[in-house]
Amino acid sequence: MSRFTPTEYVNSIYDIDITKLKNDGIKVLVLDIDNTLVPAKVRVPTEFVLKWIEEAKAIGLEVILLSNNSKGRVDEFNSTLGLYAIHRAYKPLKRCFNRIMEKYGVTRCEICMIGDQIFTDIWGANNAGVMSILVMPMSAEEGLGIRFKRIIENIVIKKHRKDTYCLIGNPVAHSKSPVLHEAVYKYYGINARYLLCRVRREDLGCTVAQFKRTGVKGFNITVPYKQDIIPFLDSVTEHAKKIGSVNTVKIEGGKTVGYNTDGDGFVKQLLSDNTEIADKRIKMIGAGGSAPALVYALISQGAKSIIIYNRTFQKAEDIASGYENVYAKPLCDFTADECDILINTTSVGLSPDRDKSPVESLDGISESTVVYDIIYSPPVTKFMEMAQKKGCKAYNGLKTLVYQGLIADEIWFSRDITDDTLVEGILREMKDKR
Ligand code: ATR
Repeated sequence: MSRFTPTEYVNSIYDIDITKLKNDGIKVLVLDIDNTLVPAKVRVPTEFVLKWIEEAKAIGLEVILLSNNSKGRVDEFNSTLGLYAIHRAYKPLKRCFNRIMEKYGVTRCEICMIGDQIFTDIWGANNAGVMSILVMPMSAEEGLGIRFKRIIENIVIKKHRKDTYCLIGNPVAHSKSPVLHEAVYKYYGINARYLLCRVRREDLGCTVAQFKRTGVKGFNITVPYKQDIIPFLDSVTEHAKKIGSVNTVKIEGGKTVGYNTDGDGFVKQLLSDNTEIADKRIKMIGAGGSAPALVYALISQGAKSIIIYNRTFQKAEDIASGYENVYAKPLCDFTADECDILINTTSVGLSPDRDKSPVESLDGISESTVVYDIIYSPPVTKFMEMAQKKGCKAYNGLKTLVYQGLIADEIWFSRDITDDTLVEGILREMKDKR
């Protein structure tokens, strides 16, 4: 039903703060005609409409007419305005929005659709991923069909007005995050929805601006933008600053605050597996995007030492240099002995490369070493299999994924979210959806 939900509702076009839209990055206003600008039977723009459009143009906004009505209707209405106009637009199809983006060289984040009908204007805008403002229809006298549609629209609006949370990244289509967050909303009766947004790198800034403008309450960031998002945020926590990456953003009072919950999620997984961290010797393979958060969290929990092994030595060294008891070594020097916890943070072994491991052998590993792989697909990686053959306990990263998401919800909703029954339910659902 979210496809029918507009970004904002107002009574009429005169209630729209067009200067704010402009300041928030909107460049093109797309206007429906009938019942949005004038009542359906009025053939030409009123003085008020002319003035409103002039004001919008004066502050630098492009104004476009987009109607499902005939060429004759649109041309007559547009004769005094001379705007770019599309008739027979076939809303809610999104192709008219593609035409607008191409013509004006703008992104979807720079367009705002204004119309009175959910099933054409708003659905079309949502199909195209552009902002939409629903105005109350102007005609009091509407046919029976339209009146019936209005009743349904009102029900949809009341029922489906939810707080919005999102995941941004590229790609995002296969993310399990919606399963996780929707389960939380259901469990606690929170009226919210969680959407996936595939974002191009060049659209990062305008996406954040669009989220602020449209009342999105928070969002997660996944690969490859956990570092790149930082310049677009109003502030980040000391913790996120130190590890240089953000996976959770809360929007409050129009300001964005960046957090990182990856490391705490990993620690929660270790606690739930009864794996102690304090005074333990840890070896970590990989120094990519997830390593800094894990190192920070493990050291904060009192780990005795961490040795980071990485193919590119310098990346391990860059992380280690921020701590007294963290050391860097090249991957070719890896040995599995003398450690209490061994963690793979590389992407080696991830589906479809199921038969690969970041290291050739775990010879010398003690049976008491607890082994973790941050990969969760496949559920048992080659690396985990090698550890199990040596008699070690080995865990994948699915629980970390769940815990880091629950911590994000705790930040957004300022309340305790983590609950064993909930976690078990989510894990079951995620495994089913694999
Ligand atoms: P991510 O988004 O997963 O963090 P990344 O930043 O590219 O991706 O990090 C991937 C990690 O896997 C790195 O530690 C990388 O080693 P390099 O820093 O040398 O690139 C490691 N990695 C990837 N492929 C590897 C391979 N075939 N052998 C060993 N390490 C590998």
